[in-house]
Amino acid sequence: MQPKRRRNRKVDSITMKKLYFILLLGVLLISCGQKEYRIGVSQCQDDAWRQKMNAEMQRELLYHPELKIYVREAECHNALQCAQIDSFIREGVDLLIVSPNEAEEVKPAVSRAYKAGIPVIVADRRVTGEEWTAFVGGDNLAVGRMMGHWVQQKAKKAGRAQRIMEITGLPGSTPAVLRHQGLIENIGESMIVAQGMGAWLQDDARRVTDSLLAIYPDIDLILAQNDLMAIGATEALAKHHLTNGKRPAVMGVDGLDSGLQAIIDGRIEVTTTYASRGDMIIQTAVQILKGEPFVRDTVLETSIVDIDAARALWAVNEQNAHDVATIRFLQSQMDAYWQRSRVQTILLWVMLGMLVACVLVLVNYLLRNIARLTEETEITPVKTPKDKDVEDTLTPKMRAYIDAHLSDPDLSVELLSEEMGMSRAQLFRKTKALCGKAPVEIIREQRLKKAKELLQTTDWNIQQVAYEVGFTSPSYFTKCYKEQYGENPKK
Ligand code: FRU
Repeated sequence: MQPKRRRNRKVDSITMKKLYFILLLGVLLISCGQKEYRIGVSQCQDDAWRQKMNAEMQRELLYHPELKIYVREAECHNALQCAQIDSFIREGVDLLIVSPNEAEEVKPAVSRAYKAGIPVIVADRRVTGEEWTAFVGGDNLAVGRMMGHWVQQKAKKAGRAQRIMEITGLPGSTPAVLRHQGLIENIGESMIVAQGMGAWLQDDARRVTDSLLAIYPDIDLILAQNDLMAIGATEALAKHHLTNGKRPAVMGVDGLDSGLQAIIDGRIEVTTTYASRGDMIIQTAVQILKGEPFVRDTVLETSIVDIDAARALWAVNEQNAHDVATIRFLQSQMDAYWQRSRVQTILLWVMLGMLVACVLVLVNYLLRNIARLTEETEITPVKTPKDKDVEDTLTPKMRAYIDAHLSDPDLSVELLSEEMGMSRAQLFRKTKALCGKAPVEIIREQRLKKAKELLQTTDWNIQQVAYEVGFTSPSYFTKCYKEQYGENPKK
């Protein structure tokens, strides 16, 4: 029998292992769910235009909850941007969006990401070379040509070629190069007489314009490569008394709120739109990540913004700002809802886990006990209460009372239970537990046992014996005797 016991234990532990494995698999499958993509966004700097682009990306992410973006901005430093890109590579992002500070300087880091197998979307400013996956950005050549076109209009109106001051962005950035190139192409007879580098920043532009105005007090137009620098230039202009007494007209680029406001206020004359399209960048990212077809080079259109267009755009932007605020509000409501339901889900999982653990413990317990019981039954046959000798199991008090009143036909279950100090039901439960029999059966058995003894040891006839052991009817006695011993009572 021993080996059998060992086998049962083994079966137990295998079953338990299987159960644990299935449970683990279930938890893993549920928690894996949908794949999540991490996108690193490397911005060359942080200004209103970049913030707009980031916000557009975030809004687009509402349609793609499986995507998460991590934005780092390089404060106009090439080395810092390269380091940030390298850390994105180390962190193993699924895709990289880069708006490089300067094309040549940031190229090595972009190439490293590309070679590491990370898809790279270059946004707005380009990098040199071809080691990138997709590009989404404005048409800077067109922006430059629009500047040239404005210059020509001004020259026509003035009846003479214009003297131009150009305030540029970072010289190594492609928008600075292309905007200048477009301007030159379309400038006509007019001339750039002064050029200063404003590095895309308002303060730098103010300073450089200030210095240039001291040398060139007689210029007609100031062309700043973005609105921030145009506004910086107007700040410098405000300080200067120009020789011809005429304030030069100023043009910017971007068409953001600050530029539109400056046009409406009369500080600058025109600007151009320069879309950031963060939404389109994210759409391209989704297509790349999901292996769908995508456009490799997306060049966004641009248009001139004069005072009328500025007023119209301002109104549209106000409406948009209101819509965005509504979306943000709804989003915050949804976030709060998700937060609550996440807590509920966690609680649910904890409870489910506890329930499963309880079931496992129970199953484990049952398996072990079933096995043990089976073994025990096989090893030492246990006497069930039914088989136990009634006399052995009865309490001495009960036995004595039954023996003393055997010949009394009134000996009943009621009397016995009263004598034992318990209810009929309690006595029933007790005798059932002790010997598997009801009190009435016990009394009858004891009577018949005594009868058998009297038949063998005395010369009393059946009738006498029946009365002696408390039966009131000899025929009923005979019937019970036969049931008990399988034969008729005989002398
Ligand atoms: C924002 C910005 C814009 C400009 C663009 C050029 O950082 O300077 O004003 O149009 O970048 O890349």
